[in-house]
Amino acid sequence: MIYLDNAASSHPKPQGVYDAVAEALKTGANPGRSGHALALDASRFILSAREGVARLVGAPSASRIIFTSNATHALNQALQGFLEKGDHVVSSAMEHNSVLRPLHALERLGINHTLIGADEEGIIDVERVAEAITPQTRLVALTHASNVTGALLDIERIGDLCRERGVKFLLDASQSLGAYPLDVVASGVDMLAAPGHKGLLGPQGTGILYVGEGVALTPLLSGGTGFASESREMPEELPETFEAGTLNTPGIAGLGAGVEYILSRTVEAIRADELEIIEYLLEELPKVPGLTLYGPKDPSKRLAVFAFNIEGVDGAHVGYSLDEVYGIAVRVGLHCAPDAHKTIGAFPMGTVRASFGPFNTILHAEKLVEALTVIASL
Ligand code: ALA
Repeated sequence: MIYLDNAASSHPKPQGVYDAVAEALKTGANPGRSGHALALDASRFILSAREGVARLVGAPSASRIIFTSNATHALNQALQGFLEKGDHVVSSAMEHNSVLRPLHALERLGINHTLIGADEEGIIDVERVAEAITPQTRLVALTHASNVTGALLDIERIGDLCRERGVKFLLDASQSLGAYPLDVVASGVDMLAAPGHKGLLGPQGTGILYVGEGVALTPLLSGGTGFASESREMPEELPETFEAGTLNTPGIAGLGAGVEYILSRTVEAIRADELEIIEYLLEELPKVPGLTLYGPKDPSKRLAVFAFNIEGVDGAHVGYSLDEVYGIAVRVGLHCAPDAHKTIGAFPMGTVRASFGPFNTILHAEKLVEALTVIASL
């Protein structure tokens, strides 16, 4: 099997991830709840994962990394915890439903938003973000990389803009974290949400939220934290104020091992390997008869997420043939980001999407092109 569905979930994981999950599961105790040796071991898994994620994103302190159950949970915590009645948010047509649906739901509470458009490659113009900011705007919420086109956002310029205009910047790094170098402080990112199971190479059911200094956030959940139990109020300490209830210790231990792998291989090296695949596919995919490739043509402006359609061949058939005949796994359809498909002119049919991860090689990209060439000619 050639797995090209890493934008949905990374596969395979580094061996250390499988080992860490099993070890934490066997340890079994509850982190931060008891003082015995097994509970302390469990706490160490959590702390080490938190420190690893903090290093990866450049967070000034590990306590500013919150563990969540996925990126959607992290994004909901950020949006619902930060916004208040009367606030306005600037977001974009390239967002995933994990941002679009919470923003839609918040309209009922008197929190409005503007979705700015992107160009036909899915690239967001910073000027359009600037124009959409109003005196009521408190937040700019944008995806770092589209899960449909792989188009990257110029986060440094958006960060500068937000600082100048006095609004907070929430970055959805669901596709980019682990695949593209990122530093929250240097880029002026106030909150960053990401899943644990994509670029961080951890298990599903894990996610992270970075909360920067000066961001006043109300916890989404209330409950046990393992300390200050006498009070009905949630303690205000980070990270526990956002982590009510027992954490997913095996999942987070696995996530920590995924991050450890990335830190030792380095994001820069992962990006350099991915760029080789990007350059190859930007050259070769358009040669497949009838193939329309979406997203940026400039390798530096995209990730290795390739959405395409083949004229006269249903996307579902392309996906089915790739899987059944060639053993190549891709995703087909709308990828939970309907407005992104409208932006690139692939709505309502959606696209076939091949997304690469750190264990894919140029050989996998060659096999994809070979298979598509045959499918297109049948
Ligand atoms: N958001 C994930 C994807 O793009 C699941 O496939």
